[in-house]
Amino acid sequence: MDLHQGEHQKRPLFSGRLSIIAVAAGSAIGLGNIWKFPYITGKNGGAAFIIVYLCCIALIGLPVLISDFIIGRRGGGSIVTSFRALAGKRSPWLFGGFIALFGSATVLSFYGVVAGWSLEYIVKAASNSFAGKSPAQVGEMFGSFIVSPVEPIVCQLIFMTITAGVVYAGVKKGIEAFSKVMMPILLGIIVLLCIRSLTLPGAEGGIAFLFKPDFSKLSAGGVLDALGHAFFTLSLGVGTMITYGSYINPKENLAATAVQICIADTVIALLAGIAIFPAVFAFGVEPGQGPGLVFVTLPNVFAQMPGGYIFCLLFFLLLAVAALTSSISMLEVSVAYVSEDLGISRKRATLLLTALISAVGVVCSLSMGEYQEQLTFFGKNFFDLADFAVSNVEMPIGGAISVLFVGWVLKRRRVQDELTCKGSLTVPLIGAFMFAAKYLAPIGIAIVFLHSLGLF
Ligand code: PFF
Repeated sequence: MDLHQGEHQKRPLFSGRLSIIAVAAGSAIGLGNIWKFPYITGKNGGAAFIIVYLCCIALIGLPVLISDFIIGRRGGGSIVTSFRALAGKRSPWLFGGFIALFGSATVLSFYGVVAGWSLEYIVKAASNSFAGKSPAQVGEMFGSFIVSPVEPIVCQLIFMTITAGVVYAGVKKGIEAFSKVMMPILLGIIVLLCIRSLTLPGAEGGIAFLFKPDFSKLSAGGVLDALGHAFFTLSLGVGTMITYGSYINPKENLAATAVQICIADTVIALLAGIAIFPAVFAFGVEPGQGPGLVFVTLPNVFAQMPGGYIFCLLFFLLLAVAALTSSISMLEVSVAYVSEDLGISRKRATLLLTALISAVGVVCSLSMGEYQEQLTFFGKNFFDLADFAVSNVEMPIGGAISVLFVGWVLKRRRVQDELTCKGSLTVPLIGAFMFAAKYLAPIGIAIVFLHSLGLF
């Protein structure tokens, strides 16, 4: 199957290993690492949860990520084109492409809303709005902001416009250039925050919480949270890594790249934990707050901390930058499909899809406020429904399709060719990867899926 080689020549390719890592790690590292990972770790009791999460990344997330890269690079096209090139025009596997398309657009619709909140919080932090407020007042500030019918929508639309601007500029001049500048900035900010947090008196409590496991605190639900989050944090099951895989040079070592991305993503999640929990413990705040940890608890903590003004501002900047490098990857999935398969120009596709996805995002935002009653379906408001449909249903299905396709449908020789760059690299553990792709990952995914539907 050399067809894809021809396809490759027509497609933009990332410049080299560093660019691939910046771009793919940029997709992986986002609100999932800085907003969600700390709060689910807090909710699930700390270190023991982190150990399970690390196992899920290594045993299930990594094989799915490698499979996505293989499908993308070997297929050499958008999410749908890649499956079509590898499985045939009328193959049922094309379904995998279409549901990933739906998933990436849906995830961006509600992700843009939360990312918009981070923009608002940059402004709030810059104008010192948290100073002198009681914890209850900061909580009230967040609660009334997210239900307002105007401000969160304006913020979401600004965020979506920036996302569109980067994607509009193209794969190399937009996505690659942007991620290569932003990722080091993100790393710099998070290291600064860690230093501040670790040097607070009483920081040890947070470190023990993160690194001293107490398995009695871990529930079955916690194990499933860990597995579900491994998907979200590595951007799996929604076509992102397949689309990015199609921009990877045929000479790059896919497995090594995937391992480095998992490491980068995990390191940033742990650094986010180190930036947050020592401060949370130093100020005697409850770590198991839930989703408000970052938007309510942290501003309170920063307000009491020496240098809190600047660190609060840096924190929300970090959140917004991380969200942006992820949102561009979500938009790229459908832009690549519409521009390559439907023959609409890339720029027009970007504008069209941004408008469509933003409109769904507006509905998500409104469903939390005044229009909650009209926008509640199956007992969930539209925002929660979109989140549930993607995170609990589409992502596991999409991930299972990738891993099953590579494990059972692609010929082993092709997989081997892709992993070893046609025999020019020696890649260890290919047998272990095949085992994980065929059995381990699909079984793990089936368990999360059935659980999330309440069937297990
Ligand atoms: N991995 C991103 C995060 O942790 O915030 C979320 C994400 C990005 C999910 C891209 C899906 C996606 F396609």
